[in-house]
Amino acid sequence: MFQGTIPGPMRSIVRETASGWPSGPVYVPCCGNFTIERSVAGMGFALHSSDVSIYTSAVGRWLTWQPVGIQLREESRDELGWLAGSLDDGVGTVATLMLGTRFLASVGREGLWHERVVRSYREQWKAKHAETVERLSGSDIELASYEVEDVRSWLQKVPRDAPVCSFPPFYGGGYEKLYEPLEAHFTWDAPEYEPLSDDDVVSVLGAITDRPYWLTASNHSVPELHPYLRGVIKATPRAAPFYVYASEARTRIVAPRQPIEPVKVPRLREGDELVGPLRLSLLKPGQFNALRSRYLNPKIAPGAANLAVAVQDGGGRLLGVFAMAPSTFTQDEAYVLSDFAVAPTDYLRLSKLIVLAATSAEAQLLCQRAFSRRIRRVATTAFSNNPVSMKYRGLLRLHKRSPSNEDGWKFQLQYQGAMGQHTLAEALEMWAKRWGAPTTKTGV
Ligand SMILES: C[S@@+](CC[C@H](N)C(=O)[O-])C[C@H]1O[C@@H](n2cnc3c(N)ncnc32)[C@H](O)[C@@H]1O
Repeated sequence: MFQGTIPGPMRSIVRETASGWPSGPVYVPCCGNFTIERSVAGMGFALHSSDVSIYTSAVGRWLTWQPVGIQLREESRDELGWLAGSLDDGVGTVATLMLGTRFLASVGREGLWHERVVRSYREQWKAKHAETVERLSGSDIELASYEVEDVRSWLQKVPRDAPVCSFPPFYGGGYEKLYEPLEAHFTWDAPEYEPLSDDDVVSVLGAITDRPYWLTASNHSVPELHPYLRGVIKATPRAAPFYVYASEARTRIVAPRQPIEPVKVPRLREGDELVGPLRLSLLKPGQFNALRSRYLNPKIAPGAANLAVAVQDGGGRLLGVFAMAPSTFTQDEAYVLSDFAVAPTDYLRLSKLIVLAATSAEAQLLCQRAFSRRIRRVATTAFSNNPVSMKYRGLLRLHKRSPSNEDGWKFQLQYQGAMGQHTLAEALEMWAKRWGAPTTKTGV
């Protein structure tokens, strides 16, 4: 419901720590996405929370039965008048802001992608909004109070002996930017406060930890708090580690674990001739993980796949794998999370055959079944040190090139293409003609 799920180990550490605290009030400044409140829900504490952001304050006020107090700005009415019917000063407004965090940054911006994002929200607004309202209404968070207040002044009011549990900003500045798109289109009784400087962050930490019971966490290691380190959590292989510090609790180190299942299918090997017809078969998550760990470049961090498919040749030998997920913003698009060919084989360009299989009419059918929607296009991202991806060149269209946000690569390349324009049989024919000549150890 709220942004981001809480990694299980994080929830456990917070609960375990809090279970040693006296019953009664617990204070949660900088409560953000209510991660802490969600973690200790049902433990019987009276939770008093505060924050300064528009988003958190909307949720916090709604959870404590206060009017949310947020309206569409007059100057945004032309562009966003279609949201007006959803703003009810209660859960409807909260749901609107929640959905707003996903598309408002695209409002008024030029470019096909931004236009598509806004259009898709506008067209599906009724359903998306109703669904969010329903999910919000099922929330099990109970707050004793919520206040819109700066952490520096709020902490001074908190009783000296009461537990404080907070994930505050660990660097000065930064959070104000996060909700800029919401602030740009909505008006409210925003608090006046000076953004936290780096020195303020240190004194806030001091005020949190200067008491008998406290817990705090950051995505940076804080040397001063080292003696209090209670756990290091990596929620997913891509995620940055999260350091949890607390006054009393046991120490934990938690790293992600992927289920691995053996894949017994024979693989195409050097010296094997690839024969038709191609066929596709579904892989279980553990099998996909096993193959991905074996063949995918270790510099590429894995993501979770909704649909993982093995490509086999006529001899039943595995040629490669592709994994797809429904695209978040584009209704009829499938996103290729990964695609790779087995190796070593005699075919230098085997990976192009996997791309062709992934965009075939048969793959389209599998996607449509798995995602329960019509799929006409594919998109994918390639990380590369070259300005184009040799694998996708000639098969998909390079839509955008930007500097890589992943270490170890120069470029991040966005590719798009049609899906279902050829069958598997045509894919093999096309590939065999252009790229399918085998190389041998002596020949080319
Ligand atoms: C690291 S986030 C906490 C969110 C955390 N991930 C969670 O969901 O529990 C930091 C929060 O501090 C809030 N914040 C930033 N400056 C603040 C200030 N001066 N006073 C109170 N809260 C502040 C931000 O709005 C943001 O919600």
